[in-house]
Amino acid sequence: MSTTQQSPTAAGSGANASENFKAAAATNDVADTPPERVAAIVTSVLQGVHDAIKTHDVSYPEFQAAKAWLMAVGEGGEWPLFMDVFVEHAVEEQVATSQRGTKGSILGPYYLPGQVRLPSVCEFPRRDDERGLPLVFEGQVRDIDGTPLAGAEVDLWHADADGYYSGFAPHLPEGNLRGVIVTDDEGRFQITTVQPAPYQIPTDGPTGQMIEAAGWHPWRPAHLHLQVRAEGHRPITTQIYFAGGEWLDSDVAEATKPELVIDPREDADGVRRSTYDFELEPQSEA
Ligand code: DHB
Ligand code: FE
Repeated sequence: MSTTQQSPTAAGSGANASENFKAAAATNDVADTPPERVAAIVTSVLQGVHDAIKTHDVSYPEFQAAKAWLMAVGEGGEWPLFMDVFVEHAVEEQVATSQRGTKGSILGPYYLPGQVRLPSVCEFPRRDDERGLPLVFEGQVRDIDGTPLAGAEVDLWHADADGYYSGFAPHLPEGNLRGVIVTDDEGRFQITTVQPAPYQIPTDGPTGQMIEAAGWHPWRPAHLHLQVRAEGHRPITTQIYFAGGEWLDSDVAEATKPELVIDPREDADGVRRSTYDFELEPQSEA
């Protein structure tokens, strides 16, 4: 695979994330939500806004600036990015209260379904000159009762050594650092890839402007994204982080959990390896 030098922009990744989200969102059917529930949720959200206005004595210029900013987020296609950075973790934590097995984390805006299927022991799709420390990530997928799950799918995607995701950055080949690994008869998998870099929220768009105006930083710690699926089991969406990595304790998306941090060790051949097992609960108990 080849590369051309062309930097991704907030506008580019925002618009791509919006297109991708619209295609996936068609499957989210909430049409039967009763009006009482809609009213209760909308009232709570508006109450939060009204309370903030009172608490902080918000002025007319600030109110109009907020409207202009909201419009810019929409026009830049940045709503998926904004919602996944600042809101999704709360939804994930809420859903997790009724979920057993491996801890989950946010999906984020960069999942792409239908990636190449790979055997249980595989080289992850990457450019010939892909930069980054080599990493072997291996483990087993099991039921929460310990039964190994053969034929389970470990759907993995991660950023490159510059923090960019294929499909959302024009200079990256399609399918780069993405794939669905199928576990062997014992539920095992072993993926050889490269360690991703921390991810920076695009700073040139309205979300980045808000982060800067608030004096925050725009970084997420380096992470692997995974969705682990097995027939008859509740799928889990999660992320794996790296011990000692930058931003681990101040993730802008607040999506880290101590149970999801790995500490790859160099083996005798100087290859960084880490083992992580996934446990899925039966679907019927969900
Ligand atoms: C965003 C990007 C990510 O890589 C991620 O894991 C979560 C959120 C974002 O830009 O919204
Ligand atoms: Fe990510």
